[in-house]
Amino acid sequence: MSDLTVPEELLTFFENSPVALALGDPAGDNELIMVNARFTELTGYRQVDLAGINCRVLQGNAGDHEGRARLRAFLQDDAAVSVRTPILNFRKDGEPFVNLLYMSRLRTLSGRARYIFASQFDVSRAQPDRLRAYDAQLSNTLTRLSPIAAESGIIVEGTLTTIANSATAIAQAKLTLANLDNSSIL
Ligand SMILES: Cc1cc2nc3c(=O)[nH]c(=O)nc-3n(C[C@H](O)[C@H](O)[C@H](O)COP(=O)(O)O)c2cc1C
Repeated sequence: MSDLTVPEELLTFFENSPVALALGDPAGDNELIMVNARFTELTGYRQVDLAGINCRVLQGNAGDHEGRARLRAFLQDDAAVSVRTPILNFRKDGEPFVNLLYMSRLRTLSGRARYIFASQFDVSRAQPDRLRAYDAQLSNTLTRLSPIAAESGIIVEGTLTTIANSATAIAQAKLTLANLDNSSIL
């Protein structure tokens, strides 16, 4: 596990969050520092499974080049504020899902990236109402995180761009899973 310690008040906030959250190291291979209970519920991976590991393990051998390239571009560009992309992932038990992944940076007062902040959502099994509810919860999480992080001298960067057409995003994700099923039959 990365030795970047997370302030206690942030850990408590993360654990009580209604959405899946992860924190990663902005340096090196972006190792995971912590994942919360909702992340474990979603992916089947516990904190101990991902100790010091890059979250790309969730991608298996899927080869989702487009989503992965978007994530990499964000991580490589310190000036990029946030990224939001669907990416094909697999739960620990091997079940595929399309992860609508959001990432931004938490910075120190001097502007140095301290953590990569991430939130995950299974868009392939959602309904439009559920996706809109998640968007509202994540947006609310970012807003409420700001004053708590500020107590530890950490600035929350990035606001959420909500999904304009949730029905289309869900339909695309379901199609991704359907294509995956077909290709595994061949
Ligand atoms: C905190 C954090 C959480 C991440 N969560 C996920 C995730 O849930 N699913 C995923 O496919 N990638 C996730 N990533 C992105 C991958 O770890 C990796 O950065 C991405 O695949 C691009 O880099 P690569 O091309 O070197 O694999 C996360 C990254 C960070 C830093």
